[in-house]
Amino acid sequence: MCGIVGYVGTQAATGILLAGLEKLEYRGYDSAGIATVLEGEIHCVRAKGKLHNLREKLERIENPAQIGIGHTRWATHGKPEEYNAHPHMDTAMRVAVVQNGIIENYRELRTELKQLGHEFRSDTDTEVIPHLIAEFLQNPTSFLEAVRQAVNKLKGAFAIAVISADYPDELIIARQQAPLAIGFGQGEFFCASDTPALVPHTRAVLTLENGELARLTPLGVEIYNFAGDRLKKHPRTLSWNPVMIEKQGFRHFMLKEIYEQPRVVRACLEAYVNDDWHPPASSQPIRLGLPGEFYPDLAQIQIVACGTSWHASLVGKYLLEQLAGIPTRVQYASEFRYAPPPLTANTLTIGVTQSGETADTLAALTMEKQRRCDQPPQYQPRLLGITNRLDSTLAGIAEHMIDTHAGIEIGVAATKTFIAQLLAFYCLALDLGYRRQTICPNRVAEILSGLRQLPAEIEMILEIQERYIQELAHSFADTQAFIFIGRGINFPIALEGALKLKEISYIHAEGYPAGELKHGPIALLDSKVPVVAIAMPGSVYEKVLSNAQEAKARDSRLIGVTSMNNPEAAEVFDELIPVPTVEELLSPIISVIPLQLLAYHIAARRGLDVDQPRNLAKSVTVE
Ligand code: G6P
Repeated sequence: MCGIVGYVGTQAATGILLAGLEKLEYRGYDSAGIATVLEGEIHCVRAKGKLHNLREKLERIENPAQIGIGHTRWATHGKPEEYNAHPHMDTAMRVAVVQNGIIENYRELRTELKQLGHEFRSDTDTEVIPHLIAEFLQNPTSFLEAVRQAVNKLKGAFAIAVISADYPDELIIARQQAPLAIGFGQGEFFCASDTPALVPHTRAVLTLENGELARLTPLGVEIYNFAGDRLKKHPRTLSWNPVMIEKQGFRHFMLKEIYEQPRVVRACLEAYVNDDWHPPASSQPIRLGLPGEFYPDLAQIQIVACGTSWHASLVGKYLLEQLAGIPTRVQYASEFRYAPPPLTANTLTIGVTQSGETADTLAALTMEKQRRCDQPPQYQPRLLGITNRLDSTLAGIAEHMIDTHAGIEIGVAATKTFIAQLLAFYCLALDLGYRRQTICPNRVAEILSGLRQLPAEIEMILEIQERYIQELAHSFADTQAFIFIGRGINFPIALEGALKLKEISYIHAEGYPAGELKHGPIALLDSKVPVVAIAMPGSVYEKVLSNAQEAKARDSRLIGVTSMNNPEAAEVFDELIPVPTVEELLSPIISVIPLQLLAYHIAARRGLDVDQPRNLAKSVTVE
């Protein structure tokens, strides 16, 4: 985890580094720090807690240094204390390093370096790196060469940025399994764990690949591999603009991102659906750019994901099975990687990760690829990635990708990227179903027409219901526990509603299939434990209402997310959140919106940091 930034150029570095860290704070916020080189010395300032603590310290210091590195931490090794905050330095304080990742062999290295006389000041794995570089710098060599030798001794996943008091114009960076990108300016160069920190300065960006390091000076950028060979690489131009990473008048990024969802649905449909297609037609209704061999002989699909992406995958399973008739299994990536199911033939493996950087998901996909490589043709790997970041590490692992078109998401709790993942699954299932002839063209047209109405329907919920949900949320500000129930395609939405609430409000919440309530969770119910039931019209509507009644009989306050004009629902529920009536298959995209708003307003009412909830980070790049 963690965010790293670096700058070398002609402007004062401190302000640029701080602004960059602000854009990366979603990656971790246990502590922050920056180091610069000025008049032959390294100046390092660090602070425990959020970035504003560091900013306060820096306000008191005048520092015109034109080179520096910065870090915002999500603690792995060592408590979130100032002495464990990055940057870390060698004994003589001539080399400073920031790192994102985990150095797995740090214990051995630390022992060796201590024997050589290096003095350690923190509990972190990172601190071995500046000592190691300093050790190599004792021999006549270049700064770049010393860093190259050091990274070759490191095991694990890491991205680093390094400066030295003795090389005041050089910023050296290296990447092995953790993201790192370079921004190209005029006579100034930037590096960052993620592009939002670069976009305010430049849109010319080069993403480093695993096993690469780079030397950044005010004169330019040189890229090398870990063997020391110089590589020729060119930046690409990002389509983002700086406004996309601002709050644009919203109190929190999460609320802004909830409001962006109609636009996201439109963007996905524009990208995935062939508007010229009308049944009966010989052309394809969906264009995902997948090769022909994906379709005819597919026997199984397995999906690996974490967190909210796992919930989207559960909806995906329902769609792939119901529309395309393909048996589909969804597993947590962290479980799959250590207990993979037996190999099955003609199997598509889908990795779903909005960031494209989640360590468990990447490792599960890599493992799957490796174990299938030596197998007969029908077992060969077929990997598809569904991600919001085509430039992520996932792209190097999966041979095919579906871009989810949500635009950068800053709020740690995923909202618009979830909706976008759902859209990708709707279109993938329609594509597979149409080509395998498990659904007829008229049904495809009907579903597409329903999907096209969703943006206006989401807008209606936001317009009409937000105010009410806000008021409702206020009455739950002191509630200690919630249960969410749903059935069928809305069971994953119950899980997602509960996850959103616990992530940002710290209220204990569980999602259950409504029919399971009576097999245990019902014991938790009383007047202090409200139950949110997703009761959308369709095959399981009556069943959910009955399950909700069971909760009501135990004195729970009942909140129903249900379709408008539903007289019987009004009798069952204490609080009604009416949403537009859509067909059951499409209902998750509608039913999740009030749950996102409910979680948001409860957390905001409790005065919590909605965009940066405690202990969480946007993407978890460690195991
Ligand atoms: C973290 C985030 C979650 C997210 C999960 C998976 O835990 O806090 O919000 O759902 O990672 O992230 P991914 O980028 O793989 O979708």
